[in-house]
Amino acid sequence: MEIKIQKGDITTTAAEAVVIFHFDQDDKLLEPAAAVNGVTESMINRVIEAGDFNGEHLENVLLFAQDSAPIKRILLMGLGKRENFTAQTLREATAEALKALRDRRQPRAVLPIPLDSEFPLGVGETAEACVLGGMLGLYQFTELVTKERDKIKDFDSLTIISRKKTKALANGVDRAKAVAAGICLARDLVTLPSNQATPTFLAKKAEEVAARSGMRFKLIREPEAKKLGMGAFLAVAQGSEEPGFMAVLDYQPLGEESPPVVLVGKGITFDSGGISIKPAKDMDKMKHDMAGSAAVIGAMQTIAALKLPVRVVAIIPFTENLPSGKAYKPGDVIHSLSGLNIEVINTDAEGRMILADALTYADRYKPQAIIDLATLTGACIVALGDNVAGLLGNNDELQARLQAAAEESGEKVWPLPLWDSYFESMKSEVADLKNVDGRKAGAITAAIFLKQFVPEGVPWAHLDIAGCAWEDKGSSLVPKGATGMGVQLLTRLLQSWKPLKKDNI
Ligand code: BES
Ligand code: MN
Ligand code: ZN
Repeated sequence: MEIKIQKGDITTTAAEAVVIFHFDQDDKLLEPAAAVNGVTESMINRVIEAGDFNGEHLENVLLFAQDSAPIKRILLMGLGKRENFTAQTLREATAEALKALRDRRQPRAVLPIPLDSEFPLGVGETAEACVLGGMLGLYQFTELVTKERDKIKDFDSLTIISRKKTKALANGVDRAKAVAAGICLARDLVTLPSNQATPTFLAKKAEEVAARSGMRFKLIREPEAKKLGMGAFLAVAQGSEEPGFMAVLDYQPLGEESPPVVLVGKGITFDSGGISIKPAKDMDKMKHDMAGSAAVIGAMQTIAALKLPVRVVAIIPFTENLPSGKAYKPGDVIHSLSGLNIEVINTDAEGRMILADALTYADRYKPQAIIDLATLTGACIVALGDNVAGLLGNNDELQARLQAAAEESGEKVWPLPLWDSYFESMKSEVADLKNVDGRKAGAITAAIFLKQFVPEGVPWAHLDIAGCAWEDKGSSLVPKGATGMGVQLLTRLLQSWKPLKKDNI
């Protein structure tokens, strides 16, 4: 979709379709609504007075103007009650408005920005919310469909129109485009099936993003991983014919010498469970077990596009988890990069194995903080449901910041406890620790396992995105399938990044 910004007056602009917002039960029309009402024989007022439209959240109606009007159609969209309004309301409203037009094969829309002094958001934030919402809601993945491609409904262009063309407006649009592109990239990578999105393919994608954005890039291949001693990562990779990779992307703004924030993403391109094989039902969904890595790649692209003034290093282990004659087995003891020996109880707990070595490797960058994202446990879905990420870690301030960022982005994260006493049951009879405990508190025991590999003294947060990386039903901003969860969260966190207070680990 093309996004245009145009200075002008909506009453004299020729348009196929105009998106007009209205608050629920508001006596007064917003400024663009009033203007459009004025040139369409009071069409908006008449529809409201007739009781056909109140303005409830996402309530909408498509109106046809008289021939003499410069505007052909009005998509009147409800914003709900004024007092409940947030940026998320506007993102959702724009998404639904553009989808309604797309479904009717109207691929172009003009959206006049409300400039009312009482409108709850400034011009920049308004434009940002509209563009972001539109781009996220309209997302569709059609690359692999070959039949009846003419039936695919596309949306071509959104023109943001305003009487004043300000820097804030242009910045808001640019921010939204950068964030949406990162999210859509993550969604694409997650949606691609594992026979296409192999570790090799994803490592190449990560390299492309790094090259386009002026980041340093390093790829650790299996022989080098072996030399380094990444036994836990290699144990998972050894079952597959596809080679595994540890990719490192390093974004360093000019003159920024502070230690980096390190992002780690789980990149299991397909999780069969390995020798502890999963049941057949829903195993196809396990192509999305690299959603953590996709979120990190998408976030890195966005962070660079926004030129955020903080050094960010991404460490991403990519591999499949398959059973074979070479696969790692329950009972095996694996020597990890940290030096700790891990007794494998269940080969399906492979995410924590590859993350263990990635977390240890992060120490080389002397990070000021580490954040990992992983579709780590089914237990997290049992605990928090489908749309919420589990948030665990060793630093209250970092967790609070992540919660605040999620509040802004509309992504949902919720804290789970991580007392060291949870480690008791992870102790092994034959090695330093087991990779799995029983069924209780599965999301927490997975995180307490990871904690053993976090470099000493480094603030760390873990997001278990097993439930929220994939959307089964579809919502205003997230069509069915890959969500891109985490891209916005990380971007918003790093946008206002300041060093963490010391001593609260
Ligand atoms: N990738 C899965 C977790 C998962 C489940 C992600 C459902 C998304 C949706 C992970 O590797 C896994 O298999 N975890 C096991 C851990 C168990 C063996 C302790 C699980 O959750 O069953
Ligand atoms: Mn697994
Ligand atoms: Zn997995």
